[in-house]
Amino acid sequence: MKKTNVAILGSGNIGTDLLVKIHRSKYLHCSAFIGRNLRSPGMLKAQELGVFVSAEGIDYIKNNPKSCELVFDATSAQAHIEHSKVFKELNITAIDLTPAKLGPMCVPSVNLSDCLNEKNVNMVTCGGQASTPIAYAIGKTQKNVQYVEVVSAIASRSAGPATRANLDEYIHTTEEALKKFSGAAKTKAILNLNPATPCIDMQTTIMAKVENPDIEKLKPLLNEIVHRIQSYVPGYQIVVGPLVENGRIVVTIKVKGLGDYLPAYAGNLDIINCAAIAMAEEYARHWAEEGHSSHKGKII
Ligand SMILES: NC(=O)c1ccc[n+]([C@@H]2O[C@H](COP(=O)([O-])OP(=O)(O)OC[C@H]3O[C@@H](n4cnc5c(N)ncnc54)[C@H](OP(=O)(O)O)[C@@H]3O)[C@@H](O)[C@H]2O)c1
Repeated sequence: MKKTNVAILGSGNIGTDLLVKIHRSKYLHCSAFIGRNLRSPGMLKAQELGVFVSAEGIDYIKNNPKSCELVFDATSAQAHIEHSKVFKELNITAIDLTPAKLGPMCVPSVNLSDCLNEKNVNMVTCGGQASTPIAYAIGKTQKNVQYVEVVSAIASRSAGPATRANLDEYIHTTEEALKKFSGAAKTKAILNLNPATPCIDMQTTIMAKVENPDIEKLKPLLNEIVHRIQSYVPGYQIVVGPLVENGRIVVTIKVKGLGDYLPAYAGNLDIINCAAIAMAEEYARHWAEEGHSSHKGKII
């Protein structure tokens, strides 16, 4: 069997955690880890793992278009807008981990197979991956979803400079995703970067205002969705609810990470990276089955 060659663009918190996870994948091989500075902690980690590294940024892809079939973009929303033009021109499939939201939004537990024919999918945000499947279950089982509000808290240490520069995009993209997946007319997303030490685990609370909340109707689909998420994010669990408080449905979830790059508190890296890998592995299996003309991965 062949592993699909993938490149990671962006060597920060998200890119480096993704690299460690891809190293374990049965379907993916990281053929290039690309950043801007060979001495950054992420680049040093990649070299320690024996992975090919380049500090040329997007120019590496331009100059070596056959080096990969798929690129994970873990840079910033602003940079992805420029990078996406190159991916399109070179016909390389892109999985965007920034909140640029150029391509359709992908939440594997809800719409994985719908994304298979897309060339640039957006993985929304960490808070979005944690909350939209719950909001989807609420939307499917409750009448008249008027408003959904989502509050996520992550350890400040796990938010790199690009995450901080993309806070407006985080809010906008998460709110759009909540509307799309729940059908709610109004949504609000809030992100707390908590500086406490020891660092806090990622936690997200979803609150929904619906007509006559029906928890018993919600539970079966909610349990099924949580089960699906746990198949690719093992540390995802409901810690409160579902319950009705002041007429609103409330569910709180926690995500424990695998501790691949940052310690286990950084479930915010795992929730989006595991989702991105689930999508990439689905592409890899699909291309292998179809005998994709450009399927030229590493033979293992
Ligand atoms: N951290 C999270 O919890 C989280 C969760 C979900 C999504 N995200 C999103 O993921 C993205 C990355 O976040 P992060 O926390 O990993 O930030 P980060 O630690 O600052 O990582 C960003 C990396 O991208 C590199 N980079 C930026 N522009 C580039 C360009 N044009 N070409 C090549 N490399 C470039 C940076 O290089 P330098 O080292 O040279 O600066 C840095 O290594 C952000 O858009 C963020 O919103 C973050």
